[in-house]
Amino acid sequence: MTDDNTIELILKSINIVDIVSSYIPLKKSGSNFKARCPFHDEKSASFMVSEKKQIYKCFGCGKAGNAITFVRDYEKISFYEALKKLAEKAGITLKNDESYKKKNTKRDLLYLMYKLAGDFFIDNLEKYGHNAKRYLEKRQIPLEIAKEFGIGYSLDSYSALKNYLLKNHISEDIFPKSGLFRVKDNNDTYDVFRDRLMFPIHSVTGNIVAFGGRALSQEQEKLGKYMNSPTTDIYIKGKELYGLHITRFEIGKKNSVFVSEGYLDFLRLYEKGIKNAVASLGTALTKEQINLLSRYTKNFFLLYDGDKAGITAAVRASSLIIQNSCVAKIILLPDNHDPDSYLMKYSIDDFMNLQQNALTLTKFVAQHSKIFGGQRQAIQLLLDVSPEIEDPIVRELFIKDISEAFQISEINLRKKIQKQYKKNESQTEQLPLSYKYEEERKLLKLMLKDTYLIKKVAEDLNESYFINDNLRYIYNFIVNISPNELSDNPALILEKIENDELKSELSQLFFEEEFFDEIDDLIRQVKLRKLQEELKEINEKLSKDIENSEYYEKKFFIKKEISKLSKSVVRKTIF
Ligand code: CTP
Ligand code: MN
Repeated sequence: MTDDNTIELILKSINIVDIVSSYIPLKKSGSNFKARCPFHDEKSASFMVSEKKQIYKCFGCGKAGNAITFVRDYEKISFYEALKKLAEKAGITLKNDESYKKKNTKRDLLYLMYKLAGDFFIDNLEKYGHNAKRYLEKRQIPLEIAKEFGIGYSLDSYSALKNYLLKNHISEDIFPKSGLFRVKDNNDTYDVFRDRLMFPIHSVTGNIVAFGGRALSQEQEKLGKYMNSPTTDIYIKGKELYGLHITRFEIGKKNSVFVSEGYLDFLRLYEKGIKNAVASLGTALTKEQINLLSRYTKNFFLLYDGDKAGITAAVRASSLIIQNSCVAKIILLPDNHDPDSYLMKYSIDDFMNLQQNALTLTKFVAQHSKIFGGQRQAIQLLLDVSPEIEDPIVRELFIKDISEAFQISEINLRKKIQKQYKKNESQTEQLPLSYKYEEERKLLKLMLKDTYLIKKVAEDLNESYFINDNLRYIYNFIVNISPNELSDNPALILEKIENDELKSELSQLFFEEEFFDEIDDLIRQVKLRKLQEELKEINEKLSKDIENSEYYEKKFFIKKEISKLSKSVVRKTIF
């Protein structure tokens, strides 16, 4: 009996409703059961259990899973211990303990692969990385610092990493899901990272979970200055921060953190002795990243370029930081410098001076109100931030700040906020973020429900049509799993995904039952969505560079595709 079969047997022999209600009281609610969530503090009941599907999901905190994960997380025990408890209840004896311990380790296997890859890249840099070393020298990154952060080099080869991992007894089965390889039509795999300077990205606990590979020549930059690991079972973009595994102690000690955007900005700060820093890795700073950092300090200094994009990013990031009841100060670097170039030119004293003069969001927006379209728009921007501030006292202080910065009475500011609040209330209730990708979600729901459709969809729809990372991941998961594995057992399917966020997304899809549109319509809708997004992007680019004929060509092509698709869509009215 293989372990997957035993898990399946156990999940089939027990009833999640019995299991959960042996820990917490459950109430019948429609075809489901509900309770107050045992995994977070709440007054209303958002924790739902589906008897039919044998899964649970909290619509408050997002926790989701099957009976095994419930027992594991409720009792805070290991997967194996939870499985053993349930097996006992079901009267099933677990054989061959070792194989279950392995069940826990698909993620461990990915960690191992990334560790091996990291070591391999370091070794390559040492032995064959003349160019890469010269590049580091040119960028004035000392070798000791490169060592400290595990910087390496990926060989100019399609199979170097592949062979290295095979030699280390990593099974090729896992290659396609690792993010380190691409898959060819004949299912053969080849290295993603070739001839690049490799920056490992670590989780806070110090495991490598992803890589960024920098081009070493301008020629190569044409293919992308950086190549980045995709979302995998151990990595979700926007959740990690570069450097944090090393700098977190210093961040705690100094009780402040400098947030920059790039690898090289971070390394420059670090090299200059400013060790309470992290890099957000090109993406706008996310709520999750802020949450993570707020474990170590509540004082954020944001280091952004002084151009318009930098200013917008700084305002966005500080809004989120304030809403999380932390303190944000914006440091704008002069003359289009980034932290790297600034510190190459100016002294630490100059930098500290900038820090001294860093501005809070309100002062910053007041000083740069022109960029936001004038005083009124600037005030509006700040007022939009305020209702989302969690802590009522921080919210009060924030409004006081606005009042001082713009010389407007607090009473009038409050009136304006209220008026606006009423307006928002009367508008339709705001949908959770995940509903934004309605077409993608609908399609996935239908594929999960009618699994015979999966093959058809896979033939017609390329993964790149999925805009949302998590949903794209789930799409790939569904398409790549064999149909009989998908079965009609949601609890078992969830067991195959180990990332909690993805688990939660998938179980939400399972929970939402509805009437569906025709499959062909759904496929078209997903394609249209993506094309419309592309059209928007190209229009934006065109507005900045109206002479660019390449953009016009692309626009023409996209529009043609859209009109082709639109003709065949019977748009349904949405009520
Ligand atoms: N980034 C990316 N892909 C790109 C450009 C940027 O993933 N094509 C991400 C990288 O994580 C990068 C960060 O965005 O570190 C900031 O971009 P940038 O400031 O352009 O990169 P630097 O790290 O400063 O690199 P360099 O100084 O070599 O340009
Ligand atoms: Mn840079």
